[in-house]
Amino acid sequence: MKIVLAYSGGLDTSVALRWLIDRYDAEVYAYCADIGQQESLDGIERKAKETGAVGVLVEDLRETFLTDYVWPALLANAAYDRQYLLAAPMSRPLICARMISYARSVGADAIAHGATGKGNDQVRFAGGAAALAPDLTLLTPLLEWDLTSRQDEIRYAADHGIPVDAVADKPYSVDTNIWGSSIECGVLDDIAAPPPEEIYLMTRDPDRTGVGSQEITVGFTAGVPTSVDGERMSPVALVERLNAVAGRHGVGRIDLLENRVVGFKTRGVYESPAGTVLHRAHRELESVVLDRDTLHTAETLGQRYGQLIYDGLWFSPLRTALDGFFAAAQEPVTGSVTLRLGHGRIDVVRRSTPNSLYDRHFASYESDDQFEHLAGAGFSYAFTMPMRIRGLARRRDQDT
Ligand code: ARG
Ligand code: SIN
Repeated sequence: MKIVLAYSGGLDTSVALRWLIDRYDAEVYAYCADIGQQESLDGIERKAKETGAVGVLVEDLRETFLTDYVWPALLANAAYDRQYLLAAPMSRPLICARMISYARSVGADAIAHGATGKGNDQVRFAGGAAALAPDLTLLTPLLEWDLTSRQDEIRYAADHGIPVDAVADKPYSVDTNIWGSSIECGVLDDIAAPPPEEIYLMTRDPDRTGVGSQEITVGFTAGVPTSVDGERMSPVALVERLNAVAGRHGVGRIDLLENRVVGFKTRGVYESPAGTVLHRAHRELESVVLDRDTLHTAETLGQRYGQLIYDGLWFSPLRTALDGFFAAAQEPVTGSVTLRLGHGRIDVVRRSTPNSLYDRHFASYESDDQFEHLAGAGFSYAFTMPMRIRGLARRRDQDT
């Protein structure tokens, strides 16, 4: 049997690699995606080989991740449970798709991942596997083995000579990529406890940034971010720049009580410095260029989009259909927005676009006002008609 495992080099997937070899008498190939994690991937190939992998593929997916996953979600202002910018959930379908293509190239019978049975990630891997590789077996070592604690896993690693630097014990469950970080477990499981400052990886303490505020200008073309401070930038360079700037100003942290797909609530702390800036700038530009009906419809559909990403339904027909809506709706979203970042805050300074629907001749209360005030009276009369009819009926009832 040949198995491709989504491998990060952490404790779970290191133990999983070796366990799959032993349990299935299999040749295991490690697939490792570089999506801009906060930790270095140096030496990961050697680590996987030393753990027993017969093949290792490390791929730089940062640009694909931003272009094909993050930008479509940004067009939709997709967020889950009001605030979560979905860094982890967007990475899973991409990792899944790429590991499947690795599986095809080595002629594998199965793919495997290191998610648990009570999380969302398993659903996201299952979604990708169902849509793209229903013919391959999906193995879930963490659900199959009888290692019941981290201590068990550490002992297993020691017994099997799995490289020790792969198993450094961590009190938190951390997942990071270029779009953001997620931190769960440990003291965060007590929802009355504030998050300790040491957990943050991408942002400074907003109260102690040590720097004043700073203006930054983001340019968009049809909803897609294309420049910072007037300089055209590749997606990776742009997001890295914004992560650095926003992170320095303590922008992009959230502390979220979240509704897992599997039914219970968890608490997670998330950072998405560039994401927070881009969402804000994007919304500000939309406010200027989208008509009211399109904007409000986009709002509703964007919420749906966020949920489907969270739920692992990236490869669903609904997503394709929503992408169609957003591609059309975002066509005028070209221009730039200047924001001021400082001490965890974002303020809008300036909006600039050739597609503005703001016309001061209608908005102004000055002498250049062109709005037909008398038309307003007729509109108000007809618009409030249903309430008038009901009001009249009520008065008649009171009289009788
Ligand atoms: N709760 C978040 C989500 O479902 C974060 C998941 C992070 N995954 C992880 N293996 N630590 O998107
Ligand atoms: C896991 O349980 O595998 C990580 C957390 C999640 O998927 O929600």
